[in-house]
Amino acid sequence: MMTVTGKVLRHGLLVTALALPASGVTAQDETKPPSLYDRLGGLAPITVVVSDFIDVLVPDEVLNANPAIDAARKAVPAPYLKYRVTSMVCQVTGGPCEYTGRDMKTAHAHLNITAAEWDRMVELFKQVLAKHQVPEAESGELLEIVGSTRGDIVDE
Ligand code: HEM
Repeated sequence: MMTVTGKVLRHGLLVTALALPASGVTAQDETKPPSLYDRLGGLAPITVVVSDFIDVLVPDEVLNANPAIDAARKAVPAPYLKYRVTSMVCQVTGGPCEYTGRDMKTAHAHLNITAAEWDRMVELFKQVLAKHQVPEAESGELLEIVGSTRGDIVDE
């Protein structure tokens, strides 16, 4: 409900699109396609998914077998990670946030993250996306965004 209202307020065209029959060239065709941020439902659902993701990532025994990851998760507050990852996801999906944290290479260089640890993280992320029933298309786009950071994060 809030999302629809938000969209209508931000994109006046949508009001016209909704009022027109769904045939021929309508105002909908001229409206910019909704961003991934909008399709995910905006900031509230994004915070929930990120929060759950960090909650499964931080205590994970496979990841914490790496002493550098284990030390960092004890030193860095989970709410801080949730804030940073949320603002990054919000920004890169087209939302109104600005990510002001470190770049991915700098933030993860000291963690010596292996390919196997990366795969574990992706597995956990997929589980969280499924738990929240994020649709296939949006899940795929999120996994692609995450995947694009692999070269900066994995130490190989
Ligand atoms: C196996 C994969 C990953 C592990 C184990 C991991 C773990 C961590 C840890 C422990 C930190 C805190 C580092 C410190 O301050 O000492 C951190 C920071 C961060 N990570 Fe990851 N991470 C992984 C992948 C990712 C991915 C895929 C993203 C986003 C695409 C991401 C986004 C961030 C952000 C935004 C920060 C905060 C940077 C800052 O403090 O400025 N991480 N990560």
